[in-house]
Amino acid sequence: MTQRRPLIAANWKMNGSCELAVQCCEVLTQLPASNTEILICPPVIFLNDFPKSDRYQLGAQNVSSEVSGAFTGEISADMLATAGASYVIIGHSERRALFGDTDALVLAKTKRAIAAKMTPIVCFGETLTERQQEKTMQVLAQHLDAVYAAHPELLQHSVIAYEPIWAIGTGETASPAQAQEVHAFIRTYLKKYDDAAASKVRIIYGGSVNAENCAALFAQPDIDGGLVGGASLKPAEFAAICLSAQDS
Ligand code: PGA
Repeated sequence: MTQRRPLIAANWKMNGSCELAVQCCEVLTQLPASNTEILICPPVIFLNDFPKSDRYQLGAQNVSSEVSGAFTGEISADMLATAGASYVIIGHSERRALFGDTDALVLAKTKRAIAAKMTPIVCFGETLTERQQEKTMQVLAQHLDAVYAAHPELLQHSVIAYEPIWAIGTGETASPAQAQEVHAFIRTYLKKYDDAAASKVRIIYGGSVNAENCAALFAQPDIDGGLVGGASLKPAEFAAICLSAQDS
């Protein structure tokens, strides 16, 4: 890890309960104070089950691209911010694959989040086929361009998540070297938009991060933390991952 502040983010996806929120708070508030930023992104209905704490922050897993109006089922950026979310995950591969989140929508949602003073965690990653065809960097460049080419000013307000789709929920993690190679590529690529912001932007890794594999990942120079799915539903394991980021 580096001079950038580590960020460990829990993506509960459509899992969890009030009880899990309570357990999670208990465990996290017992962690020693550190520079690591801890973020929980539960389903929004559980945001209020987390007492305010300086030990963790709260976030959402999605946001509407619209400000307000007749958009049944959607939740606006301002509403999320009012409910206590300071971050929002945008463009997760599950949203891109299952809910039609196109690059254009990802850009629109990123703008909305920033306008509401939340930090977007914008997700990018290649499929297994794209990796096997050695198209990883080409695919990432294309998706990064879609968000930042016309709006480089968004970069200084963003966190980037590299999540190889083949590693999400599969138990198969990118090796530390594989992940570092892509993180370094992303950082270098982003320099063409804003050199200073690219050096400062946190690029976190997601895809089957757990208590066993996290230390080697977080030790890489361009990996600034993790976006943790399955393992974040086990409070003790998630706490161990947060602790590991402190040590790296
Ligand atoms: P996983 O999910 O840790 O269960 O692979 C990560 C994510 O999808 O954000």
